[in-house]
Amino acid sequence: MVSLFGSKTAGWVGVDIGSSSVKLVSLSQQGQGYQIDSYAIVSLPPTAVVDGSVENQSEVSDAIERGLKICGNKLKHAVVAVPSSAVITKRLEISNAFTGLDLEEQVKIEADQFIPYALDEVALDFEVVGPVDKHPNLNEILLVACRRDDVDSREEAVNAAQLKCDIVDVDTFAIERLLPLLDDFAPEALVGLVDIGAATLTLNVFRDGKIIYNREQAFGGNELTNAIHQQYGLEIGEVEQKLRTGELDDEIREMLVMPFRQSVIQQVSRALQFFYSSGVQSQLTELYLAGGTAGIEGLPELMQEEIGVPTKVANPFARVGVGPRLNQDRLTKDAPMLAKACGLALRSFDR
Ligand SMILES: Nc1ncnc2c1ncn2[C@@H]1O[C@H](COP(=O)(O)OP(=O)(O)OP(=O)(O)O)[C@@H](O)[C@H]1O
Ligand SMILES: [Mg+2]
Repeated sequence: MVSLFGSKTAGWVGVDIGSSSVKLVSLSQQGQGYQIDSYAIVSLPPTAVVDGSVENQSEVSDAIERGLKICGNKLKHAVVAVPSSAVITKRLEISNAFTGLDLEEQVKIEADQFIPYALDEVALDFEVVGPVDKHPNLNEILLVACRRDDVDSREEAVNAAQLKCDIVDVDTFAIERLLPLLDDFAPEALVGLVDIGAATLTLNVFRDGKIIYNREQAFGGNELTNAIHQQYGLEIGEVEQKLRTGELDDEIREMLVMPFRQSVIQQVSRALQFFYSSGVQSQLTELYLAGGTAGIEGLPELMQEEIGVPTKVANPFARVGVGPRLNQDRLTKDAPMLAKACGLALRSFDR
């Protein structure tokens, strides 16, 4: 079976392959906590990643290679993620009489019954969660299945960049792993994290720190960058860069960036309506904003006012040490964009 869960050694980097850029984060363990040693954000041409799939592998691996140069340290092993929309997860209950290869065979037999593709087109992995309540002779098994193409294209792009792609994770698991690092995170609460990227908005909801809901919408910062490109003639790449560094002209900020916050809030409200109508009664206790578009000035405050849920930007590095080569202010600004890559980097410490 392909290792969607994998195992751990040293010199790891989390690689988030987004539609507008590749993000790399490398962490090290410092006592009980972590330190961010290096990171990079390298933009991608619009043809490289489309609708969550890698369309041009060499453009992606070039960007990863450039990112590795920026990170400047000896990173050998990579953790990447497939989008949760490309993944089927299922909890199975299987007799604990099955172990090793027998268990693998049994998982495949059960998987074949609900996976809508031929098994040889699918990458499968599973984890034994533990005994089922009240049925100690059954084990709960978390099965993850994904089209092999989605795994292979990422793996190949990473491997072509002189890294070894050791773990292919799922993006929701990366976010789940990250939650305990966030400011004021209350594990027992009903916590939302919305990732607003360039092309996709994803709402993840967690209870007791475990994912209970996940849904994607086609919306993101591209609407803003395209509008700026069309009205002011700046290149898309330049607009993205200037948004990140806060170097856009005041006029563009006032005319386009600030008003765009209302569109973001509308889309997040829509995502929340879908969630509330999915049968969960209680209101979110906390909402975190991640992804590049979360970086728009004043967005969390406005969002909180409109949706009535305490809202803040997800900064995974608030309680993480900062390596000597990094600029703390720059890192704080880039933090929400690095959330997924950070959750992937954390994967290297899981045992
Ligand atoms: N400070 C900022 N203010 C407004 N927009 C920003 C800021 N920083 C980045 N962006 C926008 O965020 C988007 C990039 O975010 P991100 O890196 O999370 O997307 P991605 O992961 O590449 O895309 P996706 O997840 O949708 O595939 C771009 O549209 C960029 O212009
Ligand atoms: Mg993204």
